[in-house]
Amino acid sequence: MKKILVIGAVGQIGSELTMRLRQVYGAANVVAGYRKTEPSKELAESGPLERVDATDAARIAEIVKKYKIYTIYNMAALLSAVAEGNPVMAWNVGVGGVFNCLEVARENGCAVFFPSSIGAFGPTTPLDNTPQDTIQRPNTMYGVTKVTGELLSDYYFKKFGVDTRGLRYPGIISNVTLPGGGTTDYAVEIYYAAIKEKKFTCPLPAGTFLDMMYMPDALDAAIALMEADPARLKHRNAFNVTAMSFDPEIIAGEIKKHIPGFVMSYDIDPMKKAIADSWPNSMDDSCAREEWGWDPKWNLETMTADMLKVIGEKHAKGLI
Ligand code: SER
Repeated sequence: MKKILVIGAVGQIGSELTMRLRQVYGAANVVAGYRKTEPSKELAESGPLERVDATDAARIAEIVKKYKIYTIYNMAALLSAVAEGNPVMAWNVGVGGVFNCLEVARENGCAVFFPSSIGAFGPTTPLDNTPQDTIQRPNTMYGVTKVTGELLSDYYFKKFGVDTRGLRYPGIISNVTLPGGGTTDYAVEIYYAAIKEKKFTCPLPAGTFLDMMYMPDALDAAIALMEADPARLKHRNAFNVTAMSFDPEIIAGEIKKHIPGFVMSYDIDPMKKAIADSWPNSMDDSCAREEWGWDPKWNLETMTADMLKVIGEKHAKGLI
């Protein structure tokens, strides 16, 4: 069995991706690499665990050799709003980390998965039905790191034949690990607030449309792309993928179908608004559909019902 290393295994996507990869490929074959935050008991006890800092190339190489790693999922990054507050660290982790993974992969014959983002687009990008190949001039440090990561990954594929593949993720919604400091976080927080308080103060204005996706689809997408027949891939870094597009009013309306007394008010965060305004309203993900069969299973209706059910159960048990 081919061995996998997940860097950033305690993060928003990494924590669930690691557990899913362990289900699919066998727990012993998936190494969880974490830096600072202590891993959950489930993550720590279900398979191999190593301290791996994405900015430390020698340590990545050591772990790759120790476990004979075949694929690196590099999930370490700072989310968009946090990155604006700490651009140096965002660059070091977001670009340094990718560069280290690519170099280690080149030397050790690994494949590399890179999570790019809707943040790789900017205000001069066509924001409706955003094409796969289009203008990418982001005006956030997060976006600059994502475009750089895409370019580096393509470079390592073309120049050195490293099997690099990536996705441009939209906002990811989950009931497991909370995101930290992203522009799309409101679409997760709103469900927790609805269950706990029946009210939510939204940092983005009505009419701010963004692409979103439920976590199970995000995990399926990464695995499906890495399993895809390379002969079918015309693109590599990185594929537009989306499952739904909504604004705060639409998600609030969906929640009200389950919790009629739910009330949303607004307290706009100007930085998050500016970031969101520079990102697509909805992406065209037809290349992902054609080249490797992308087909999301969850929409706003089914996701909302599931989020409220799971978070409601956690709340009833006093877990949140
Ligand atoms: N969810 C991310 C953010 O808001 C976008 O990729 O920063």
